[in-house]
Amino acid sequence: MLDTINTLRQQAEQDLAAAHDRSALEAFRVTYLARKGKIAELFDALRTVPAEQRPAIGKHLNALRAGIQELFDQKLARTAEVAPRAPSLDLTLPGRRPSVGSRHLLTQTMDEIKAVFVSMGFGIADGPEIEDDYHNFGALNFPPDHPARDMQDTFFLDRTALLRTHTSPVQIRVMKEYPPPVRVIMPGKVYRNEAISSRSYCLFHQIEGLHVDVGVTFSDLKGTLISFIKQFYGSSTKYRFRPTFFPFTEPSADIYISCFLCGGKGCRLCKQIGWLEILGCGMVDPNVFTSVGYDPERYTGFAFGMGIERIALLRHGIDDIRLFFENDIRFLNQF
Ligand code: PHE
Repeated sequence: MLDTINTLRQQAEQDLAAAHDRSALEAFRVTYLARKGKIAELFDALRTVPAEQRPAIGKHLNALRAGIQELFDQKLARTAEVAPRAPSLDLTLPGRRPSVGSRHLLTQTMDEIKAVFVSMGFGIADGPEIEDDYHNFGALNFPPDHPARDMQDTFFLDRTALLRTHTSPVQIRVMKEYPPPVRVIMPGKVYRNEAISSRSYCLFHQIEGLHVDVGVTFSDLKGTLISFIKQFYGSSTKYRFRPTFFPFTEPSADIYISCFLCGGKGCRLCKQIGWLEILGCGMVDPNVFTSVGYDPERYTGFAFGMGIERIALLRHGIDDIRLFFENDIRFLNQF
């Protein structure tokens, strides 16, 4: 009996060593370890062993079974790691949606504004974010050392190169490149050395507008911008023009719309005044025409500029401008 046990052990070890995949292992298990396998057969044969030898033989048998089972388990575990998984493809399950990105809220807002002006016949132009003093200030009728420069705290890169503080220098570039008439909007990034807070950031976006031709009047400015306000903010939006100063426009105005949160009664959003400032505008100053080589006696025009962050903040009740630049997916996913 002991010989039989040893022979079976050797054979089992050989067979196990030769079993390289899961089906071979399963065949091995059926042959040796299953209820009707070779090891079970030996247990059955135990009955024929004389009673006094039974405990000793039983011990060997148990050791055989435990040993083979352990070797088998180890090999199965190792084989399972490398064996290709059985295909588990359930064609009735719904597909997995790939997670696609979306346009940033600022891009969406700019695209909407652009669409309104394009529908009114405006083209689109752009210019560099690194500008020089001439395009950002000089040609726009900011005299050197004029206090108006203080309104736009500037990042200078060297004595003349700077990060543009507004999109107005693109007006200069467009007029230097194209003869009148021009009718364009100019979207882009601008930079100011602001103390960073929930209300201001060192980087933001503007859309500039310019329309120059023979006989363009303040009525054209009003007609165009009122049409924009009605299309963008809704036809019942009220608006008002308030005189202000820009070196490159004369006369100049800030446009306010009635607060869409409180309807003009006064609330936190409009700081209790019932009005929200949305853009600056004015008639192009003749000095600007002179600096780009347009005849100021022949041509007139209007220009305007609006901040995109402010529009998006107000519209969506966002209370911190920094959210636009942190790229937190939890914020971006909401729009
Ligand atoms: N460039 C001005 C600003 O950034 C806005 C503006 C543009 C005003 C065009 C009038 C005309 O404040």
